[in-house]
Amino acid sequence: MIKKCLFPVAGYGTRFLPATKSMPKEMLPVVNKPLVQYGVEEAIQAGMNQMAMVTGRGKRAITDHFDISYELEHQIAGSTKENYLASIREVIDQASFTMTRQREMKGLGHAILTGETLIGNEPFGVVLSDDLCINDGDGVLAQMVKLYKQFRCSIIAIQEVPNDQTEKYGIIAGEALKEGLYRVDDMVEKPKPEDAPSNMAIIGRYILTPDIFDILRETPPGKGGEIQLTDALLTQAQNGCVMAYAFKGRRFDCGSVDGFVEATNYVYENVYQEV
Ligand code: G1P
Repeated sequence: MIKKCLFPVAGYGTRFLPATKSMPKEMLPVVNKPLVQYGVEEAIQAGMNQMAMVTGRGKRAITDHFDISYELEHQIAGSTKENYLASIREVIDQASFTMTRQREMKGLGHAILTGETLIGNEPFGVVLSDDLCINDGDGVLAQMVKLYKQFRCSIIAIQEVPNDQTEKYGIIAGEALKEGLYRVDDMVEKPKPEDAPSNMAIIGRYILTPDIFDILRETPPGKGGEIQLTDALLTQAQNGCVMAYAFKGRRFDCGSVDGFVEATNYVYENVYQEV
């Protein structure tokens, strides 16, 4: 039902300098797999097979990652080393990858709007690959697609965070329809704890209906002078319906060094399998 997934991957990754000086932050490996590949695998598991990437200057490694590396593959063909390529080959076989470039960094909302040309007029998933989500069974996007089938409106992933962390996230408030599911009536991008409407933080997984593009076009710059997806989603919630879903699974903030190290340890202990 939802075939396309948008990956805004144009950001600088300043917190990981110098590692990210010439390498995209989305290519940082958690053990042996780049962050963005975890996101793509999650989208494939949710039934999506058209990956749309909003890239920028210095991000060619991402495009190359999702293509054949002819020389390398030729060199190791027929040897035991070929097994190391199994996971990426599987991904490439199951999905198409299209790219467009965001020329200026004007915020997440602007990145999503830049992706309109790849998405068109249909509902789509969004993955912010900094947020690594790991769980048994259905991944976060697959859980959200199920809800989309029921509600046919935008769905955002949320998680409770400590009160002193609200300034790192978009924060929502809403009416609880059942445990872990809210109809959103307020959203604020990165509020101070005293201004936060709750401690329910937006995590980087969304299902968006395509009317979000028209709303984004009309959304003025918000927090930090950037066009915020959170502001556009609030408009969408006020005009119609947006649902927030406290997903099942673990999430690591791989946009921070602490979260990245935690994710690495967790994946090494619990997920990684030696080839
Ligand atoms: C973005 C969103 C924010 C959300 C966060 C999740 O912020 O603007 O609402 O809570 O992703 O990771 P960023 O972390 O890109 O600054």
